[in-house]
Amino acid sequence: MTRELWDQEAATFDREPDHGLADPATRAAWRDLLLGVLPSAPARVADLGCGTGTLARLLVDEGYEVDGLDFSEEMITRARAKVPEAHFVVDDAASPGLEPHAYDVVLSRHVLWAMSDPVQAFGRWVNLLRPGGVAVLVEGSWSTGAGLTADEAAEIVRQHRSELTVQHLTDAVYWGKEIDDERYLLVSRA
Ligand SMILES: C[S@@+](CC[C@H](N)C(=O)[O-])C[C@H]1O[C@@H](n2cnc3c(N)ncnc32)[C@H](O)[C@@H]1O
Repeated sequence: MTRELWDQEAATFDREPDHGLADPATRAAWRDLLLGVLPSAPARVADLGCGTGTLARLLVDEGYEVDGLDFSEEMITRARAKVPEAHFVVDDAASPGLEPHAYDVVLSRHVLWAMSDPVQAFGRWVNLLRPGGVAVLVEGSWSTGAGLTADEAAEIVRQHRSELTVQHLTDAVYWGKEIDDERYLLVSRA
């Protein structure tokens, strides 16, 4: 999708349960999922393709320092309003202009699939990590036909990393509905 299309999505983006996390049970599920794999706060997180900043809000509330990046001005305008404590930049996640080797966590939810060269993009994401940093991806192969299977995402990650785990996110609580497609958390610690 183009930047212009994401700009058009921004005003209604948070209506999806997993985007806006308006339901306390959904928000708590994402909180528990992410805190279960992130290093303890305080830690520096780069949220790539951060959208309206919902995950940034969640993590700042838990004591993390978050830099968010998205190429959509409309998404970033909303993220800045939602999370004034965080730092947001309008930039291309394919080549993020954030400080190299400065982050404990690179987090990206539903963005790797949209990269024209995901192997190259993920290599640049990994370059943002400090030694010992963690890459946390949430991706899916959706019933719409878009996305990446867990096997495809793992293959991309293995071009740059030696270790990864995949957790399938089948519980309806994450999505506000039952799902029958493939959605997962991929964590790489080395
Ligand atoms: C499905 S949304 C996910 C937003 C957020 N990560 C979340 O989970 O709520 C995808 C986001 O990636 C952004 N995006 C897509 N391609 C991008 C690119 N090349 N560079 C930066 N952001 C991009 C879009 O603008 C959009 O905000």
